[in-house]
Amino acid sequence: MSLSLKPRNPVRAKISAVGSFVPPRLLTNADLEKMVTTNDQWITERTGIRERHIVDQGTATSDLAAEAARNCLAHRNIPADTLDAILVATVTPDMFFPATACLVQTKIGAAGAWGFDLSAACSGFIYTLQVGAKLIESGAHKRVMVIGADVMSSILDYTDRSTCILFGDGAGAVLLEAAEPDEIGLVDFIHEIDGSGASALYMPGGGSLHPSTPETIAAKMHFVHQEGGAVFKVAVRKMAELSEALLTRNGLTAADIDLFIPHQANKRIILATAERLGMPEEKIVINIGQYGNTTGGTIPLAMDTALSEGRLKKGMTILLASFGGGYTVGATLLRWEF
Ligand code: UT7
Repeated sequence: MSLSLKPRNPVRAKISAVGSFVPPRLLTNADLEKMVTTNDQWITERTGIRERHIVDQGTATSDLAAEAARNCLAHRNIPADTLDAILVATVTPDMFFPATACLVQTKIGAAGAWGFDLSAACSGFIYTLQVGAKLIESGAHKRVMVIGADVMSSILDYTDRSTCILFGDGAGAVLLEAAEPDEIGLVDFIHEIDGSGASALYMPGGGSLHPSTPETIAAKMHFVHQEGGAVFKVAVRKMAELSEALLTRNGLTAADIDLFIPHQANKRIILATAERLGMPEEKIVINIGQYGNTTGGTIPLAMDTALSEGRLKKGMTILLASFGGGYTVGATLLRWEF
């Protein structure tokens, strides 16, 4: 008997629900003033961040991710055991292995789902979104949960004022399903990586290059290290460049975009990118003031913010953009379908 190839119907993927979760404990700029030499005015003016949420000891990335996934499932009113796959974007997995996706799978009771983690720092969510979309578009799966989740407080040096003020903990999840015939859903994306920027934003210790030793701990190699100014400039240039290329390739301009949902690393980066694109501020979702940079969590958290504010509606044309450690860059175009 020979194998026969069956033609598949072209299927499009859409986001059908969103959920998010942040731990209740707040770390405000006033709290940070007591920990490092900084002040609320500097942090607010240079980053736009007023407060961030951080976990209590014992709470891990899979806990935030599971809670975001549960909220997402509740909004769609479907049980977890109908999921085909769970994909988690994170740079702060509970542990190197098993994958955080496995821990989320058992926490939410998604019997029958497979999954894995994807590591692309602040671009992790939009990269994972495309991988999930391909599982739907191929016809292989009907329901894929894509989660961006990070406990950045677990890898921050709270004596380094240049990094510890920037990040927070949080998670967001979206459900991907097949679009109806009259729906468009995910349209197009452009992604780029550039490893020449690897040492501008990284956590050098704990991997195969520098396994954990008393020396790596003493040298603070298990914390985030960043050349902030260098990252800032490339972030603005590359997010604008890829977004512009994506719009042009689809015959669109910034005027055709109803809502721009960028990664939330720094309010000044967001505004400078939007200015290059000719995107007015009222079309941008900015919630960095409340959450800081939650790495994998920022874009789905921002989607949830926009939904709760009534700014995200069915039929809108949406642009997502991200930049992060790697370097990793991405831009995604989609139509909102619920
Ligand atoms: O999501 C992943 C990608 N990451 C990013 O996109 C982050 C990109 N970078 C940034 O957001 C910004 O570069 C930072 C917010 C990290 C820093 O802002 P900046 O405007 O680039 O400041 P800077 O690093 O040039 O520092 C300016 C001054 C320095 O003092 P001197 O040398 O001028 O005396 C810093 O020591 O501000 C000082 N400084 C601070 N002062 C008070 C740095 N951090 C602090 C602080 N509080 N927390």
